[in-house]
Amino acid sequence: MEKFGIYIHWPFCLSKCPYCDFFSMPVNKWDESLLEAAYIRDLKRLPVQTVTSVFFGGGTPSLMSARLINRLITVIRDTFPVAPDMEISLEANPDAIDKPKMEALRAVGVNRLSMGIQALNAADLKFLGRRHSLETAYRRIEEMKTLFSNFSFDLIYARPGQTLQAWQKELKEALSFHPPHLSLYQLTIEEETPFFRRGMETLDDETARTLYEWTLDAMAAAGCPFYEVSNFAKPGFACRHNLLYWEGDDYAGIGPAAHGRLGLVATENPRDLATWLKGETITTLLSPKERQEEKIMMGLRLKTGISDQGLSLSAIQKAVEKGWLTHEGGRIFPTREGLIMLNQLILELV
Ligand SMILES: C[S@@+](CC[C@H](N)C(=O)[O-])C[C@H]1O[C@@H](n2cnc3c(N)ncnc32)[C@H](O)[C@@H]1O
Ligand code: SF4
Repeated sequence: MEKFGIYIHWPFCLSKCPYCDFFSMPVNKWDESLLEAAYIRDLKRLPVQTVTSVFFGGGTPSLMSARLINRLITVIRDTFPVAPDMEISLEANPDAIDKPKMEALRAVGVNRLSMGIQALNAADLKFLGRRHSLETAYRRIEEMKTLFSNFSFDLIYARPGQTLQAWQKELKEALSFHPPHLSLYQLTIEEETPFFRRGMETLDDETARTLYEWTLDAMAAAGCPFYEVSNFAKPGFACRHNLLYWEGDDYAGIGPAAHGRLGLVATENPRDLATWLKGETITTLLSPKERQEEKIMMGLRLKTGISDQGLSLSAIQKAVEKGWLTHEGGRIFPTREGLIMLNQLILELV
């Protein structure tokens, strides 16, 4: 079956974390009926095809009411054919969800929960500007684990000053929950964030590399190996929706700032709530070459690699000689060195 997913962007958080440049606003009050109508309008504009995954991202979509989530899932089920095993993921924040809310989400059909934990020590939670305590983080992971067999949490590492020992302790702690999936991101300093304005610096490359290499080994040893640069899963637990992006399949993006790819058509909703509510969206027709380049950039992030079709054999050979790729059976696969040098590897091939 062809894969097709719908991404739904929720633009609010209880507060704004100083490292984050996702489109989200720190408020605790909004008009859900206005948003509901606009989401449904966006859904009704999509071409009808079988939906294999839905992803509620943000922002903090665990702030959406279970009623609204139910309504959107119902509209999707009524408007599109859906795969019998459709994945429905939702991102949650520890302080914007509790056990009854998790139960309500499960009851309306959410079957994969992904929690933004970010750090497993109190000092770094504070450094990252997180509102929740370490105790809340632990409690939420436990609750999520009892209610969802398919769950994940995010950690941000390679924080300024973080040592390998400190990260080892934290990741071992994370693994003690036996999560079927983890997203482990190295901190990036994004322009126009408070971290950027404060002149925050990332870890030096050498230490960051050491942390990453240890992470790859530790996760593989725990039976939860990498399947994408920053994503790790036990067999069968890779996030199907996120795989759409990396494998170059079609997806629709609804909500403010959401992107979509439908064949060669790229859609981009306004990064402004009022403009999005009005129904404006930007549609661009990509050339086959542009779309192919995107697919290469995304596919090189994956353990399963990409087909070598249409790629320059001499560029592949060069990357193989540098130790960044292996080339086998008509596919190229990033090596460990290739994952570390991903940006240069992409430049070499695109
Ligand atoms: C859109 S956020 C949603 C998660 C949820 N709102 C939360 O914060 O708990 C997705 C993930 O991106 C990661 N992230 C955001 N900004 C980052 C940055 N500057 N560096 C590394 N990871 C980042 C965080 O791990 C975060 O959980
Ligand atoms: S990291 Fe999550 S909670 Fe923090 S501002 Fe970004 S989207 Fe909101």
